[in-house]
Amino acid sequence: MRQYDSDGNGIGDLNGVGRQLDYLAELGIDAILLSPFYPSPLADEGYDVSDYKAVAPELGDIISFDRLLSEVHHRGMRLILDFVANHTSDQHPWFEESRQSRSSPKRDWYIWRDEPNDWQAALSAGSAWQWDAASGQYYLHFFFPSQPDLNWRNSDVVAAMHDVMRFWLDRGIDGFRVDAAHCLAKDVEFRDRPELQGVPIAAVNDQEYTHYVLRGMRDVVSGYGSDRLLLGEVFFNRAEDVASYYGQQGEELHLAFNFSLLRAEWAPTRFASAITEIDLAFSARGLWPTWVLSNHDRPRTRSRYDGSLQRARSAAVVMLALRGTPFIYQGEELGLEDAVVPQALRVDPHGRDGQRSPVPWTREYPHGWRGKRHCIPFPPDSELLSVEKESMSPGSTLGLYRRILALRRSLDVLRQGHLQAVRSMQGVLLFERLLEGKLLAVVANFNNLECHTPYSEGWRVVIASDGVGEGAPFPGRIRGEAAVILEHES
Ligand code: NOJ
Repeated sequence: MRQYDSDGNGIGDLNGVGRQLDYLAELGIDAILLSPFYPSPLADEGYDVSDYKAVAPELGDIISFDRLLSEVHHRGMRLILDFVANHTSDQHPWFEESRQSRSSPKRDWYIWRDEPNDWQAALSAGSAWQWDAASGQYYLHFFFPSQPDLNWRNSDVVAAMHDVMRFWLDRGIDGFRVDAAHCLAKDVEFRDRPELQGVPIAAVNDQEYTHYVLRGMRDVVSGYGSDRLLLGEVFFNRAEDVASYYGQQGEELHLAFNFSLLRAEWAPTRFASAITEIDLAFSARGLWPTWVLSNHDRPRTRSRYDGSLQRARSAAVVMLALRGTPFIYQGEELGLEDAVVPQALRVDPHGRDGQRSPVPWTREYPHGWRGKRHCIPFPPDSELLSVEKESMSPGSTLGLYRRILALRRSLDVLRQGHLQAVRSMQGVLLFERLLEGKLLAVVANFNNLECHTPYSEGWRVVIASDGVGEGAPFPGRIRGEAAVILEHES
């Protein structure tokens, strides 16, 4: 969100997002997921909220929010908000009151203990416990010490957070992404976990009570009708563990992020096993998975693939051809790499500035950012990879994303088709999609040399990662590091 500036101060803001809505609609997305825009001391890019029911003054106000929402809806898109439910900022009035004394009425809104246990915080933040000298106890923080964890076992916390949800739902938003959704409830006995050997507790925290909390959130969302979304960030590695957060009968999250491709190195076996594992855990239970190649927490896809644009484009073809809901991180559709951010300009204590670099809108520096200052440098090749330049070239990465997203709209089999025949052979990943006799095949060549494939006679290329041969019969061979979607001509 902070990537879209409107007032020229170099910081993205709500009006700035509003100016790019035509671009986003033309890209062909259905919904926009906004990262936190609430008042915040910005110790963690806004994931440290100090007021849940307002807009940070540097990003706009509630009027600009309402206008943005109505303009998003006007273009037929949806708006999903980030709901930072696990923790507040240490500057939130609730925490300021809680830390005042052991007898504060809000003491139990957070998690206080006389002794720490051995849990480690995420984001390389050391112990998950922070000593508070004034009140003489430790408080729990799964992430940075400036992000004290809320106590979701306290019914006043639940009521206050449901009230926050209703505040935004009443304004007409289309749903929430629940940040760190699997972290909400903690082990009531606070048992040591020596076996974790430094792995953050947030990576394994899996409590029955969290499911109860999520069912409560789902009830709030469902109170607004069946078309509001409860999406959650559940960053477990195992597909079944992620799937369990949809609930026994689908009564918890509607969708949870699946980060298996984002974590997969460039290897067809890794892609094939990630896809198969998700398919088994989700389709078998009638659940709908999601797919993610990049986000604000990880190096951009292309940077993970040694800077290879070809690989990033092929991975995009694979992801957008899978069964499930894909999420695209800003700039992924342009093939951006991480910016190189000098030490003096870094703002994130966990080193995630490079992937949060601004989108170059226009060719010329400062690429449509009218700001006096740019907090973070632009990604490499920003002139070539700018929206302005790529919009003019159908062969660009932007052109590729637009074509596939348009195809997803027009071809039911691409959105709803059954996924079958997932396999990897000699460096090539293959899978098929099938719906009512309509068959597609997806082939991605992870080798750098051309390869033969099992498909040839009767197949036509509908999408090619390098744009070559689209619309023509498939010759049966695929270029190195390319991916194609093929349509059976029957
Ligand atoms: C996950 C968010 O994606 C990340 O950016 C943030 O640092 C942590 N949750 C803590 O809120």
